[in-house]
Amino acid sequence: MAPSSTSQEGKSITILNGSSAGDWDTGAVPRTLDDLTWPVRTERLLIRRVTPDDAPAVWRYRQLEAVYDWITTAPTDEQAFSEYFVDSHRQAVTLAVEHDGIVIGDLYLHVEDAWAQTEVKDAARGVQAEIGWAFDPSYGGRGLATEAVAAMIGICFEGLGLRRLVANCFADNTPSWRLMERLGMRRESHAISESLHRSGRWLDGYGYALLPDEWRR
Ligand SMILES: CC(C)(COP(=O)(O)OP(=O)(O)OC[C@H]1O[C@@H](n2cnc3c(N)ncnc32)[C@H](O)[C@@H]1OP(=O)(O)O)[C@@H](O)C(=O)NCCC(=O)NCCS
Repeated sequence: MAPSSTSQEGKSITILNGSSAGDWDTGAVPRTLDDLTWPVRTERLLIRRVTPDDAPAVWRYRQLEAVYDWITTAPTDEQAFSEYFVDSHRQAVTLAVEHDGIVIGDLYLHVEDAWAQTEVKDAARGVQAEIGWAFDPSYGGRGLATEAVAAMIGICFEGLGLRRLVANCFADNTPSWRLMERLGMRRESHAISESLHRSGRWLDGYGYALLPDEWRR
C-alpha cells in the first residue's frame, strides 16, 4: 500500500502503511479499524491496536495523578484497571502508541453515528468519531502526543473516510486543548459548569471538532 503523508506545523507525518484515501461522501459505507493495515508508523511512533497484554504498560502511566485527574474512568488499583482495560468494547476503541518499543500512550477512537432526522438516519450511521488520548507524562513536551493524534486524525479521515471528529475536555485541562488547537481542531463549545469532576467540583467543558477540509488546509 502506498505511503501517505500529512503536514502539521511544517513537519511531515508519514503514515507508512496506512489505508488509502477514503470516500468523503456522507453516503459512503465507512470502513472499520479491522479493515485497515496495522501498525501505522509515523516519524517517531508506532501505532497499533491494543491487546489485553498491554494492560500493565498502560496502567504504569494511567495510575499517575497527572493522567487520572483528567480521564473519564480511573480505576484505583491494577486489578480493577486490568478488568476495565481488557473489556472487548474498550479493546475495540483503543490504540497503543509505542516509542522505541515502549508503550507511551493510548488513543481512543470511537466511531459513532451522527444525529440525523429519522428519514435519513441510515446515511448518518458510523460517519464520525469521538477521539481521545492519554500519555505518559515522562514523555511529554516533545510533541509525541501531537504526532500520535495527528496520525489518528489521518487514520480517521483517510483510512476510515469519516466526515467529522469530535473531542471534549475539561476547560482546565490546558495541555489537552492546546494539543487540539495545535492540530487545527476548532473549539465549538464552552459549556459552563457542565461536567462533574471526581473531586466533586462542577467544571466548565470545551467541545472541539474537525472536518476533513479543515484538516487538509
Ligand atoms: C494531553 C496530553 C497528551 C498533552 O501532552 P503534551 O506533552 O502537552 O503533548 P505533546 O507530547 O504533543 O507535546 C506538546 C508540547 O511539546 C512541545 N513540543 C516540543 N516539540 C514538539 C514537536 N515536535 N511538535 C509539537 N509540539 C512540540 C509543544 O510546544 C508543547 O508544549 P506547550 O504546550 O508548552 O507549547 C497529556 O497532558 C496527557 O496525557 N494528559 C493526561 C490525560 C488527558 O488529559 N487526556 C485528555 C483528556 S480530555
